[in-house]
Order: sequence, then C-alpha cells, then structure tokens
Amino acid sequence: MAKIIVTGGLGFIGSHTVVELQNAGHDVLVVDDLSNTTIEVFERIKSITNKDFEFYQLDLKKKDDVKSLFAKAGKVDGVIHFAAYKAVGQSVNSPLEYYENNLGSLVYLLQEMRDNKLDNLIFSSSCTVYGQAEDLPITEHSPVQSALSPYGNTKQVGEEIILDAIAAHNFNTISLRYFNPVGAHPSAKIGELPLGVPLNLVPYITQTAVGLREQLSVFGDTYDTHDGTCIRDYIHVVDVAKAHVIAVERLLAKANEDNYEVFNLGSGKGSTVLEVIHAFEKVSGKNLNYKIVERREGDVTAAFADTTKANETLGWKAEKSLDDAVADAWRWEQKIREEV
Ligand code: UFG
Repeated sequence: MAKIIVTGGLGFIGSHTVVELQNAGHDVLVVDDLSNTTIEVFERIKSITNKDFEFYQLDLKKKDDVKSLFAKAGKVDGVIHFAAYKAVGQSVNSPLEYYENNLGSLVYLLQEMRDNKLDNLIFSSSCTVYGQAEDLPITEHSPVQSALSPYGNTKQVGEEIILDAIAAHNFNTISLRYFNPVGAHPSAKIGELPLGVPLNLVPYITQTAVGLREQLSVFGDTYDTHDGTCIRDYIHVVDVAKAHVIAVERLLAKANEDNYEVFNLGSGKGSTVLEVIHAFEKVSGKNLNYKIVERREGDVTAAFADTTKANETLGWKAEKSLDDAVADAWRWEQKIREEV
C-alpha cells in the first residue's frame, strides 16, 4: 500500500481517481481549494469506498499552503496533480490567473517534492497540446502545436517545466494526455458538477434533457466529417481514473522505461457531436432539443487517440463505451437534480 497525494481530488477526474486508488488499496491524501467543487464530494467518495481519507482545503498557488501540505503529509510515495483551472474560454479572458494557478501550483509542488526528496509525479495533460493534428488517430509522436488558448498553453508549458525539473532533479513523471473525459461513477454518487452554464457537450446535453437548459446548440455542421459535426474521442471518466492508478503504480514499481513518459488516454474511437446526441437519446429514451448554430471559435475538426502505447506499455485499455458514459452521466444528472 502506498500513500498518494491527490491534488484537485474532489474535482471531476480527481474524485473518480480517489475511488480507484482506494479500491486498489492505496492510502490517499486529498487537497483541493474547493474553487470548482464542493466539500460534499468528500463524503460521497467515502460512501462509495467505505474508506476514510485525509483531506485538506489548501490553495496550491500559495507557496505556504504547498509547504504546509508536505509538512502535514508525512511520508508520501507519489503525487497525482489534477488541481488546475480548465475552462478554455475563461482562460482567454483571464490568462494571468490561469498561468498563476496552473503553473504557479506546479512549480511550488515540484520545489516541495525536490526539497522533500519525493519522487513519482503524475501530471494531468490534455490532447489540446496536439491542436488539429495532421494525422489521425493521434499518437504520442504527433507534434505539439501552438496552443489555441492560455489554458492549452498551461498544459504545454506545464509539460516543459516538468521536463526541465526532471533534467535537473531526477524526478520520475508520467504525463497523461486526456482526450474528452465524460460520464460519471456508475453508483451516481459522484460525477461532473459544472458551475453555471456548462461549456462541455455531455453536461450540456444532460442539463437540457433534465429541463435546466432549453436547447443544446450544436456548434457547426459543415466540418469535413461524415455528418459535418466535429469529431472527438469521448472516454469514460472511470477508465481515465483507472489509468492513473496503473501509471502511479508503474512509477512506484520503478517499471518506467524513461524518467519522463507520455501517454494518450482516449477510447481510440472518434464520435461526432450528432453521434453523441443520438447515443444519449438511445440510452435515455428522450428526444433532445437541439439546433445547429454557428461554429465555435477555436474548435478543431477532429481529434481522436491512437491508444496503442497505453494499451501495450501500461496494459490499460478503455473498457467502457460511449453508451455507458452517457447513460452514467444521465443517471448522475437526474440524481443531483432530485437532491437540489
Ligand atoms: N459542443 C457543442 N455544443 C455545446 C458544447 C460543445 O456542439 O454546447 C461541441 C464542440 O463544438 C465540440 C464537441 O462538442 O465539437 C466537444 O466539445 P467540448 O467542449 O465538450 O470539448 P472540447 O473537445 O472542446 O474540449 C475538451 C476539454 C478541454 C480541452 C479540449 C482539448 O473540455 O479542456 O478538449 O481539445 F482543452
């Protein structure tokens, strides 16, 4: 059993990862500033796993908070760093806050890891680093392209900061580049909790179906795809969570081949926006009110992962389908609306 710090552990992907870490027998310490989630998630996680864990509300863009985290933590074996702002549009309006939060916290974390002689970091990266890739599916060798938003740039620069830190201080790190994580825990006890109007497709679909939004806008149907809508690789959040457990265990076992490794986390399958809508309509039995509107600025036509490296090297593979993901997202949406 290892002790793992999970930053942003009450967020969407973080909370599902805490569950899988506990299921795998690890001891978890969670830190979250609660800027984009609520403290109830702490109890909800425990109600799934029936196991307690340490939680600290700290702000990792404050160096003193990061220091106090390591002072409290005692002996730790690894860190999974989720804590970050993630709204693409908001990052365009508040770039400095994005750089401060996403990169400041990473630098402080790396400094403390170095000073505490702590190795083994898993970093949340994103397929956004590839931009519109020339070749599909996207392998880890696809070139990183100029970021389309400050948010995307924080992921690119984050990876560069880690590479420089590794060169100087000999850390072992795995960056996981997520495609589009969606869905919720099958228990419907944890899931995505967007504050305000959702920006992402699946929560917008479920909020429309539950009556919270009037209509889903489909951003463009004139893309060069089989039905004209954009293609993405939607991956169930529980599959993403399980990949983190495998990745951290790889570092703990010193089974990594290099001190910096990168893996794509996707299902390997591209789905159009209309296919996601139809999958939702099929599993929910509801007709969705949607309308085709103008393209959204910054959207790439198509992105889906080549997952061969994660399949072969990590022995990880997405097990759940798009239908599973939208069914679980729908069950979660209905459950939280009953509660409020
Ligand atoms: N879409 C709609 N209507 C909506 C919301 C989304 O048609 O109301 C479409 C988008 O145009 C896109 C697809 O649904 O074609 C998926 O959009 P999301 O916003 O759900 O996801 P993105 O692929 O744009 O963004 C995700 C993550 C980002 C990350 C990015 C990398 O949310 O954090 O992938 O490409 F940066």
